[in-house]
Amino acid sequence: MSIQEKCRVLDHKEVAPKHYKLTLFSSYISSRAEPGQFVNVRCSQEYDPLLRRPFSIHRVSKDYFELLYEVVGKGTEQLSKQTIGSEIDVLGPLGSGFKIDGKKQIAILAGGGMGVAPLLLLAETLKDKVKAIYVLIGCNCKSRLLCEQDFKNVTDQVLVSTDDGSYGKKGFVSDTLLEVLNDTIGARNLSQSIIYACGPKPMLKAIADISFQKKIDCQVSMEERMACGIGTCLGCVVKTKDGYKKVCDDGPVFDSKEIIWQD
Ligand SMILES: Cc1cc2nc3c(=O)[nH]c(=O)nc-3n(C[C@H](O)[C@H](O)[C@H](O)COP(=O)(O)OP(=O)(O)OC[C@H]3O[C@@H](n4cnc5c(N)ncnc54)[C@H](O)[C@@H]3O)c2cc1C
Ligand code: FES
Repeated sequence: MSIQEKCRVLDHKEVAPKHYKLTLFSSYISSRAEPGQFVNVRCSQEYDPLLRRPFSIHRVSKDYFELLYEVVGKGTEQLSKQTIGSEIDVLGPLGSGFKIDGKKQIAILAGGGMGVAPLLLLAETLKDKVKAIYVLIGCNCKSRLLCEQDFKNVTDQVLVSTDDGSYGKKGFVSDTLLEVLNDTIGARNLSQSIIYACGPKPMLKAIADISFQKKIDCQVSMEERMACGIGTCLGCVVKTKDGYKKVCDDGPVFDSKEIIWQD
């Protein structure tokens, strides 16, 4: 169950240009949050912007949780000004997160851009539950790379790609995924593997296509603009094989085969 809570800011720092890590105190949210769930945040003490903004739960500890966010507009700009010691109004934990399938022994986590945000909690949760974790991170260029060391603390298999080739391999996360499936994991182990992905829609679609061709289970975390965040306004729907579903309530994580991918 989710609650509305005023959470004290324990830490707030810029980790890359326009990218911030925000640590908020809440025993309730940190003890209940599951990987892939999110919180809906009032970004300032004023009512402008009026609507809350959704952010994935990046990491949890006993009494606090972390968000990782990029400043893209008014809400995130206001959020970036919140100082240590102030209180932020948060609703959460919300949504249906990644489902951990105890039978799959190889987990492949694919994150594009800010899509890495929910994957760190997932990687840390999977650590003692699977035999191998591959983390594939992609971003436009080296200066936008996030969390590489955090993922390396969980697994030796962290593969970075950049669109411009300024760090790691030049190319997209989906290119790295194909290479890992073909050259490292191999056809014999595909049935034991599962893909968890978060990132921009074209990346998710490419990954869903690969998982379909290779017959591998794949869960994707979808991002749509949200208003209420609790399933009442229908502002965040995606088209699925079972009709429209709400990203905030039925998702944000869906089986990739469920989604009707539109350009
Ligand atoms: C379930 C979920 C989890 C998310 N987790 C994170 C996270 O962990 N870290 C993070 O940085 N962001 C995350 N986002 C996106 C984040 O909510 C938006 O960046 C934020 O709401 C922008 O608010 P703003 O007022 O700063 O920007 P606005 O002024 O509202 O918009 C600025 C620009 O960002 C675009 N935009 C806004 N919201 C979205 C969205 N949901 N999807 C795509 N484009 C959008 C707008 O179209 C516009 O171009 C998540 C979104 C969802 C739905
Ligand atoms: S944001 Fe209102 S139903 Fe999803």
